[in-house]
Amino acid sequence: MEELLKQTVGGMVREDQRIAGLFEKYAIDFCCNGGRTLEAACREKGLDPGAIINEMQELTQSPREDSSRPTEWDLDVLADHIVNTHHSYVRLKAPVILAHLEKVVAVHGGHHPELAGIGDRYRAVVEELEQHMRKEELILFPHIKSLSMAERIGAPLAAPPPFRTIRNPIRMMEVEHQSAGDAFAFLRSASNGFLPPEDACTTYVLTYHELEEFEADLHRHIHLENAILFPRAIELEARIQR
Ligand SMILES: [Fe+2]
Ligand SMILES: [Fe+2]
Repeated sequence: MEELLKQTVGGMVREDQRIAGLFEKYAIDFCCNGGRTLEAACREKGLDPGAIINEMQELTQSPREDSSRPTEWDLDVLADHIVNTHHSYVRLKAPVILAHLEKVVAVHGGHHPELAGIGDRYRAVVEELEQHMRKEELILFPHIKSLSMAERIGAPLAAPPPFRTIRNPIRMMEVEHQSAGDAFAFLRSASNGFLPPEDACTTYVLTYHELEEFEADLHRHIHLENAILFPRAIELEARIQR
């Protein structure tokens, strides 16, 4: 148990994706704040670490399927998976949630003044995310794929990247991840943990539920990039330059 408490929450999810669901249940942030130990994360949330570890052991008892181990996928496969799964999800869901949220702000904003701020911050973060994903899809991910291909066929890169080292665009993406994570931390706290008030109508309840789902997907998305794709791409670049 002592040993588990000293592990980082991001590292635990990297080893077994199923733990992501458990951390989401207790609102433990394993992506932007994934470098904290389980002990520190539990202390911050006022959770009993023994109970969390018990639940985790129950969850991870059964053997996992290979599909839950993106740590072992080739980087080009992982980059495509992120785009097809998570970037597609953002593009599909973000405008739907925005339409619901705008309706809720218009109808209930008078009695619930926090809604205006929630609407503004959500609109801003989805605009940021769209630009962020475009940079990944147009610049960073194609470069990661060409590094991956170069290593596979044992040939040098066809063209040098427009940046000196991959660490530069990665650093920029990590800063943007932090900003998106902070925006959702704000939305979570302003909405009382996405808990609709007593007088909430169906759309209000649905919108908060959708926002919570969107946050969960965003955390998994950022985790795959920050904790798996980016560090492995930095290692790959170093191997190729050697
Ligand atoms: Fe992404
Ligand atoms: Fe990203």
